Amino acid sequence: MLTHGDIGLRIIRTKDAKTIERLVLGNREWLRPWEATNPHAPMTFDFRAQIRSLLRQLETSDALPFVILYQGEIVGQLNVANILHGSVSSCVIGYWIVPEVAGLGITPTAVALAMDYMFNAVGLHRVEIDIRPENGASIRVVQKLGLRYEGVKKNYIHINGDWRDHYVFALTFDEVKDGVLNRWLQKKVPKISYHFPKNS
Ligand SMILES: CC(C)(COP(=O)(O)OP(=O)(O)OC[C@H]1O[C@@H](n2cnc3c(N)ncnc32)[C@H](O)[C@@H]1OP(=O)(O)O)[C@@H](O)C(=O)NCCC(=O)NCCS
Repeated sequence: MLTHGDIGLRIIRTKDAKTIERLVLGNREWLRPWEATNPHAPMTFDFRAQIRSLLRQLETSDALPFVILYQGEIVGQLNVANILHGSVSSCVIGYWIVPEVAGLGITPTAVALAMDYMFNAVGLHRVEIDIRPENGASIRVVQKLGLRYEGVKKNYIHINGDWRDHYVFALTFDEVKDGVLNRWLQKKVPKISYHFPKNS
């Protein structure tokens, strides 16, 4: 369990399926524009199967699937995926929370906790977050934590029924040796103005 104040991350459990189902099905309009879809099959909502698949990736050390907790309640998910060791030593983070607790800084805190864990406990070198250009709220999350903008991946992930461009943001360990969460809490994150390409 990783915590800061009221905010926590813990590994997802199969028995979280009912809660996740309630949160996801109860917030379709909020989540749909940003949700990964399968290009070869319609969207399914078998949350037990989804959690089992995540736990298999945990077993093989390919992923760390967390739920995000706020005041002890599940309010979303944060998944650390594509974990690679060795000469790449990197991973990709994805997340969502429910609208009832949006705007409280829960996601940046959760992302900072996860990044510090991946750098300091797992020993990775680079963490990446990919975001659709239209997702201003998510871009604010990475801006608050000072992730660098690295470019555009064209047609990168199948989201909400089509292949979507994504902006790539990242940090490497040497940029945040004193901790991502510390740097944010101590207001030491450099002010970043992102310059995105005009046609994306
Ligand atoms: C993107 C998301 C994870 C941000 O989480 P969060 O915990 O609200 O993050 P923050 O509190 O730092 O807020 C980030 C921005 O969201 C926006 N925001 C704040 N309150 C909001 C609300 N009630 N409704 C919508 N957006 C809101 C603001 O632009 C805020 O930036 P600001 O603090 O500079 O004003 C959340 O909006 C979400 O889950 N959205 C749907 C799924 C999604 O987009 N996942 C990410 C895919 S890359």
